[in-house]
Amino acid sequence: RISHLHAVEILDSRARPTLAVTLTTDDGTRVHAGVPSGASTGTREAVELRDGDRGRYHGQGVLAAVGHVNGEIARALTGRAFASAADVDRALIELDGTGTKARLGANAVVGVSLAVARAEAALAGRPLWAHLARIAGTEPRLPVPHFNVVNGGVHAPGDLDFQEFMLAPLGAPGLPEAVRAGAEIYTGLKALLSAGGHTTGLGDEGGFAPAVDRPEKVLELLVEAIDAAGYRPGRDGVALALDPAAGEFRAGDRYRVAGEELTSDQLIDRYEEIVERFPVWSIEDGLAEDDWDGWVRLTDRLGDRVQVMGDDIFVTDPAVITEAIDRRVGNSALIKVNQIGTVTETLEALRVCREAGYARMVSHRSGETEDAFIADLAVGTGCGQIKSGAPARGERVAKYNRLIEIGEEDRALPFGLTTG
Ligand code: PGA
Ligand code: ZN
Repeated sequence: RISHLHAVEILDSRARPTLAVTLTTDDGTRVHAGVPSGASTGTREAVELRDGDRGRYHGQGVLAAVGHVNGEIARALTGRAFASAADVDRALIELDGTGTKARLGANAVVGVSLAVARAEAALAGRPLWAHLARIAGTEPRLPVPHFNVVNGGVHAPGDLDFQEFMLAPLGAPGLPEAVRAGAEIYTGLKALLSAGGHTTGLGDEGGFAPAVDRPEKVLELLVEAIDAAGYRPGRDGVALALDPAAGEFRAGDRYRVAGEELTSDQLIDRYEEIVERFPVWSIEDGLAEDDWDGWVRLTDRLGDRVQVMGDDIFVTDPAVITEAIDRRVGNSALIKVNQIGTVTETLEALRVCREAGYARMVSHRSGETEDAFIADLAVGTGCGQIKSGAPARGERVAKYNRLIEIGEEDRALPFGLTTG
């Protein structure tokens, strides 16, 4: 039973307000949760509640969402006996009543849902990852970290349209080696950028934001950095992953990349050339969320060579993912708890993917707190992949460090991609 629920307005990594939730149970167990927030969001995401009062935080305050946790949600949940965290999530969905969490605020709902899952794990006396594995019925496994080392799009200033360029140490023998590879290549890349006369300022996820506009130029630099750090570029060493977040450079029915206007098919051609030239193994949001026909062709053209991963288009929604599976859109899904709003629905989205043979990557948001829930989620659900930004900046590193701790908690955990 929940005896006390309390939210407070704190800051995320982008100097914007978000919620911290504290939950206390009858027996005195106390847990916390911090709520993340995206910038390149899908239109069908669960709806965050922002105050809109221009006089505070440029309208970005979350006092109304905080008020909902401390008022309506606390009244509905405290003192009542729930059989499981899933039951609490269902009560939250019902209480909100909108289907999009717009009334109470997805930020309020997700904060409570994360805290409730943590409390349930604590009451069961299990680490969170082990508890989530039990609920989901999955084999836990340490995921391959995907380090976002060059930031563009809406996460950085400048003219680079593709949003994320990630290092994927697929060939690492274990998690600590993967983290080490990411960190060594990141620091080497900094030196390489400096030597080439580029600035080494950072974007929102801790990756560098050089003044380069062609994605191929960045990919060349990354291969050079991998090589220079003594690793092998490729799937048996360190591969690359892209999140162009193409919805952000959609211009009418075209895509604007480095000043060129491309059709869906021209952009797909461009990806094909990239895949042939560089060790890119995964492309997330290669096309926009309104371009389902393009997605079918993209999947058809590249789906047997790379992960064609849906983020903004799927928004961690089991119903949308089911539709995508039917229409052969993508072959893998990015998973973000706050896109759908509760842990229970997130586990459902993961199950739908698993049963259809869609690969899964658990993800942070560009606005983060030090909460490392997603590390436990990725391990517990055995999805094999995670992205949490650069191997630098506290809110990003918190997730990677938690993975290392989990690896120490249970040294028998396997590491790496799943085959199914
Ligand atoms: P967001 O970006 O958190 O700003 O939505 C992350 C992503 O697109 O994967
Ligand atoms: Zn994305």
